[in-house]
Amino acid sequence: MLSSSSTPSSEPHAESTIHQGAVIAAVSFALDLTEGQPPGHSLRCAWMGMQIGLSLGLEEEQQTELLYSLLLKDAGCSSNAARLWELYGNDERLVKHDYKLVDNQNFLQLARFVFRESAPQDTLRNRLARILYLGRNGDKLATELVQTRCQRGAQIAKQLGMSDNVAMAIHCLDEQWNGKGRPEGLQGESIPLYSRIALLAQVMDVFHQTGGRHAALQEVKKRRGTWFDPALVRVVEKLAVQDKFWEGLQEEGLEARVLSLEPIAQRKVLTEDLLDQMAEVFASIVDIKSPYTHNHSQRVRFYADEVAQELGFSEGRRRSLRRAALLHDLGKLGVSNHILDKPGKLDEEEWAAIRLHPVYTEEVLSRIPGLHTIAKMAGAHHERLDGSGYPNSLHAEQISLDTRIVTLADFFDAITAARPYREAMPLAKALTIIQNEVGTVIDPECYAALHARVHGWGLA
Ligand SMILES: [Fe+2]
Ligand SMILES: [Fe+2]
Repeated sequence: MLSSSSTPSSEPHAESTIHQGAVIAAVSFALDLTEGQPPGHSLRCAWMGMQIGLSLGLEEEQQTELLYSLLLKDAGCSSNAARLWELYGNDERLVKHDYKLVDNQNFLQLARFVFRESAPQDTLRNRLARILYLGRNGDKLATELVQTRCQRGAQIAKQLGMSDNVAMAIHCLDEQWNGKGRPEGLQGESIPLYSRIALLAQVMDVFHQTGGRHAALQEVKKRRGTWFDPALVRVVEKLAVQDKFWEGLQEEGLEARVLSLEPIAQRKVLTEDLLDQMAEVFASIVDIKSPYTHNHSQRVRFYADEVAQELGFSEGRRRSLRRAALLHDLGKLGVSNHILDKPGKLDEEEWAAIRLHPVYTEEVLSRIPGLHTIAKMAGAHHERLDGSGYPNSLHAEQISLDTRIVTLADFFDAITAARPYREAMPLAKALTIIQNEVGTVIDPECYAALHARVHGWGLA
C-alpha cells in the first residue's frame, strides 16, 4: 500500500538549459498573486514598458535591465503584506489591488479608499477608530510601507544577480514626477528612467484591465506631470494608436513575446548553482510574508536533505529535492495574511483558500521548462498516503518517495519551529507525534531516516 511511484527522472540535464528570463517570468506570476493582480500583470507591464523603452532607442544592455526591472518591480511585495493586513484589517491583496487604482495625490480619492478598505467586516465603532488612526498617521505609514517594500525589492534583485540599475529601478518604483512620491520624494529626471517607465506601465495595466484602452490612456494623460514624465506620456500616446501595442497584451503567447524582447546576446542560461541561488531567494520572498513562517522553507530544505542523505540519494537527486523543498510553499504568496496569520481556527472558506497554495506552487513552477518534476513534487507536499490530503487526494502509489520526504520535512518543521505564540516543541515529543502518523500521512522509510538523523544531531 505504501510503495511509492517511480523516482523522478534526472532533471539536472534539462535544468542546465534553463534561461534566467523563463524563471523570472514564471515567478512574476507568484508576485502578481501577492499584489492581488490578475495573472500576467507583471508580464503585461513588461510588454508595455519594453515598447516604451524600444521607442526611446535604448541600448541592448539597457533593454535587458528595463525588462528585469519590469518583471521584478513587485519583488518586495510580500514584505509589507502582514503589516498591511494589520493596519487595514482587510485582505491585503484587495487593499493592494484597489490602492493601485487610486491617485494618492488626490485627497478625496485617498480618503474614500481608506474608508472603503478599512476592516469592512468590523463594527462601525472599530472601523471608525481604525480610519481615524490611518487618517492621522497616513503619511508616515505610507512611507513605511513603501520603504519596506522597495528596500526589500531592491535587495532581492541584487540577490538574483541583477545590476545596480535594476535594483535602483525597483527601489524607486513609487517615486512620482512632481516629487510627491515615495520613499525619497525624488523629482523629475532624478527618478531612474526604468522606474518612471515601470510606474507608467503599472498604472496602464490596472486601468486597462478594469476599463480597457480608453480608460488606461485617460488615466495616464490625467497624471501627466504629476505622477508621470510628460515626455514618456507623449511616447505612450503614439504607441496607443497602434493596435499591435494592445494586441501584444493578449494572454496567449504573452510570456514568449515578452521574453523574445530580451536581446539575444544578453540572454543568460542559468548554471545549476545559480538556479539553486534563485530558489533560495524565492523561498525567502515566501517566508517573509508571514511572521509565522520565518525561515520555514530553509529548514524544510535542510530536513529534506538530511533524510535524502540517510536514504543514500545521489547528489543530482538531492539537488532537485532541495529545490522542491525550498519552493514548496511558493503558492502561499497567493494566500492572504488574514488567513496565514489568523491566530484562531480557520473557517471552511479560509481552509479552501489554504488548500489552493500547493496548486499555485505547481502552476507557477510548471511554467519553467525543465522544472516539471520539481513542480509536481512541490505541488503534492500536502498529499497523504491514505488519500486524505490535498489538493488532489492522491494515494500512496501516486506519491513519489521524494515528495514524501518534502511532506515529512514540512510536517516536522511545522510542529518543531518556535512560533510567536508557542515555544519550540522538544524533538522527542515531535518524533512521537510524527510516528503516530506513519502509514497514513508519513512514509515509514522516510520517518526511520529522519529518526536516525535526528539522533545523529545529538538533540533527541
Ligand atoms: Fe504548504
Ligand atoms: Fe510548508
